[in-house]
Amino acid sequence: MAISIDENRLSLASAPEDRYVRGKLFWNPAMQAIPISGIRRMVNRASELDDVIHLSIGQPDFGTPRHIIDAHIHALEAGQTGYTMDAGLPELLTALRHYYNERYRSTLTEDNFLVTTGATEGIYLLLTGMAAPGREFIIADPTFLLYAPLIRMLGGQIKAIPTRAEDGHQLDPERVVAAMGPNTHAIILNSPANPTGTVYPRETVEWICQEAAYRGIEVVSDEVYDHLLFDDIEFPSVLSCAADLDNIASVSSFSKTFAMPGLRVGWVVADQNTIRTLRRYHMFTTTVANTPAQWAGVAALLGDRSCVDDMVAEYDRRRKRVVDLVEQTPGLTGYMPQGAFYVAPSLPDGVDGAGFAMRMLEETGVCVIPGDTFGESAGGLLRISYSTSMDNIEEAFSRLIPWMKNQPEIRGAE
Ligand SMILES: Cc1ncc(COP(=O)(O)O)c(C=O)c1O
Repeated sequence: MAISIDENRLSLASAPEDRYVRGKLFWNPAMQAIPISGIRRMVNRASELDDVIHLSIGQPDFGTPRHIIDAHIHALEAGQTGYTMDAGLPELLTALRHYYNERYRSTLTEDNFLVTTGATEGIYLLLTGMAAPGREFIIADPTFLLYAPLIRMLGGQIKAIPTRAEDGHQLDPERVVAAMGPNTHAIILNSPANPTGTVYPRETVEWICQEAAYRGIEVVSDEVYDHLLFDDIEFPSVLSCAADLDNIASVSSFSKTFAMPGLRVGWVVADQNTIRTLRRYHMFTTTVANTPAQWAGVAALLGDRSCVDDMVAEYDRRRKRVVDLVEQTPGLTGYMPQGAFYVAPSLPDGVDGAGFAMRMLEETGVCVIPGDTFGESAGGLLRISYSTSMDNIEEAFSRLIPWMKNQPEIRGAE
């Protein structure tokens, strides 16, 4: 019997019309856990409007530093277009080992690393490798949008710990410990955080790692913004906060630090058994990361890193101005974030951020991302990204401030 597939339907050529089956029945019902991202919703609408200023960007607005691009091109020209070893390009694994051991005074070996297709693949491998019915995962709310759907797809459950703009979106370690129960399988940390820019202090990370270790709970730490830090703070990675590697995994990438998100190279750092298991799984997902891009990564780690300092200095300048402008904006409660390139101020209680952000976009042409994209109790937040020029930031707030003054939800709350 011939099977033909058109856009939405699977039809059996000889079957009567009423036996047509809608195409979406192809999918595993688990796919329903994957939401339509709020980022898409906003950016798609923005693409239909003129003169939009994006404070919605989740990637660096700087170009990739020249020496990294040169290394990428050189690798292509030198014929580096085959697969690498499954754990990653040996030269990159060695460069990563040196870089981490120097930064955290640790004694990692190449066997503690797996090179992945961006941090995204590392997160995917870890979370889908662990999630199962009956297993509970503790996450902050709001948090990066990838984690919860991947866990839910495989029947895992989320225990969300809400954070508030008034507290700088700090995660209260006591609440995290109180949330740990017999079914808790892992805690997912993301610091510096997307969407809040919050950096957890060393005491918080140490406390959580210690309590998790006592209970045999895993700690998965997404550290992709680990170099975008301000105020000279030292970064409390789980790698320097946990007693050993036994129950922790850290994920990071070149995407944000070196402004090369499209080159898609990241990594997982974990104990050797975990890495061995992930290597097996990696073989069945992306096989290896892009080879010339891995060479670009070697150049990023071994080359001059003053380019990173320059980018951080510019993010810092914008951060201070944005925090200042948020403070001048009626209806927004802000705070001083210490990392990444985001701040997530809150709207007055009861205001629906999703509808509000859409109206703001349509009426002012300023695009921010509403908090419901990042968590169920984050609906009243707006994620503002300052990965854009100072001119754009000034223009965006010169539209927002007078507009906010006139909104009934804001006037009513003042
Ligand atoms: C917190 C966080 N983790 C992971 C990623 C994905 O990083 P990569 O480009 O390395 O896959 C992002 C990208 O926005 C992010 O914000």
